[in-house]
Amino acid sequence: MPGRKVIIGASDRESAFYEDLATRYGTPLLVLDRQRLIAQYRRLQRALPDVDLYYAIKALPYVAVLQTLNEVGAGFDVASSGELDLLVDLKVSGRRTIHTHPVKRDSDIRDALRFGSTTFVIDNASELNKLQPYRGRVGVLLRVSFRSESAVVDLSRKFGCLEEEIPDIVREAERLGIHIRGLSFHVGSQCGDAGRHVEAIQRCAQRMQEVNAFARAPLATLDIGGGFPADYALEGLDIEAFCQPIRKTLAELPADWHILAEPGRYLVAPAVTSITRVIGKSLRGDIPWYYLDDGVYGSYSGQIFDHARYPLQVLRDGPTKPSVLAGPTCDSIDIIAEDIALPELETGDLVIGHQMGAYTAATRTRFNLLPDARFVVIDHGNQESDAVGG
Ligand SMILES: Cc1ncc(COP(=O)(O)O)c(C=O)c1O
Repeated sequence: MPGRKVIIGASDRESAFYEDLATRYGTPLLVLDRQRLIAQYRRLQRALPDVDLYYAIKALPYVAVLQTLNEVGAGFDVASSGELDLLVDLKVSGRRTIHTHPVKRDSDIRDALRFGSTTFVIDNASELNKLQPYRGRVGVLLRVSFRSESAVVDLSRKFGCLEEEIPDIVREAERLGIHIRGLSFHVGSQCGDAGRHVEAIQRCAQRMQEVNAFARAPLATLDIGGGFPADYALEGLDIEAFCQPIRKTLAELPADWHILAEPGRYLVAPAVTSITRVIGKSLRGDIPWYYLDDGVYGSYSGQIFDHARYPLQVLRDGPTKPSVLAGPTCDSIDIIAEDIALPELETGDLVIGHQMGAYTAATRTRFNLLPDARFVVIDHGNQESDAVGG
């Protein structure tokens, strides 16, 4: 993981914007910009025009996010009944959902079927037995493991069958009367290299053709997972260029195959900004320490679970010295940034975290029973609603 981007100072307009939100709602805050979310969705759609996008709810499970993506026609990747519950009030058709957790309880299957969700992911033959009672109503995607060194989070260690196991699992499904519609994979989250997607697509295509030589019903769906990266370095990541080789590879597949993807991070990361306040300061040796009202047990939990380093911004300008930004809990692990060059901050100053939509609020805890960051929704820079909680 490269070093962290730090922005020192802000324009008057920017400062006023953050100060206004902090004054209205208090801190800590997580601010969702709906228009940014829509822009991300449209960008990825343009970069992968023939791919149906199912937002991976786990990345940021808030109704306001789902509502926004529902309005622009996204599908939803659901991994639990809790995630499904968030969709109920939005009247999303079950047909626009896929259940992607490879290991399910019977209650998960029944809840999903009741919702109208019929596509389930598995990665081993024993999981087929759970789906067998519902065989007439389910279509199955078989997840294949592709280990990835270029992804920050390898998601094929825990899930995915070996390529060599595919034919036997398909035969077992046929024996049980279950239709395997196709294959799926996840090359790992925050993938730095589209070559991993390309290779996985090519290998899955080859395996699907091999299976189709003997299968009673052909495999004709390929789910290319997530992994599309967020721009944590604020370098102006070009998703169109990132996806170009993926597009080219998909164009070589049979025209009647159905291609889908499960993006999480790319869609939500830049749409959310964290606003925290300095609640205390001290000099430890000659190093200034600033204690914020949010930290790694809260919105910055992705620094632990997701290995992310969010770009930070202080609104004050001036000569800098190595400093520490710490979270509010009593634990020493609760440090957001060490050896970070900052101007002298004062208690009450705001510290801004950028690109903080993915795997942030989703993985926080209530350690010390400190309050969660309040979730506020804005539209075109105007406060639209204050969506506290789900
Ligand atoms: C099954 C599945 N699909 C999709 C995603 C979303 O991946 P990303 O956020 O990298 O786009 C994840 C992330 O954990 C996942 O486990």
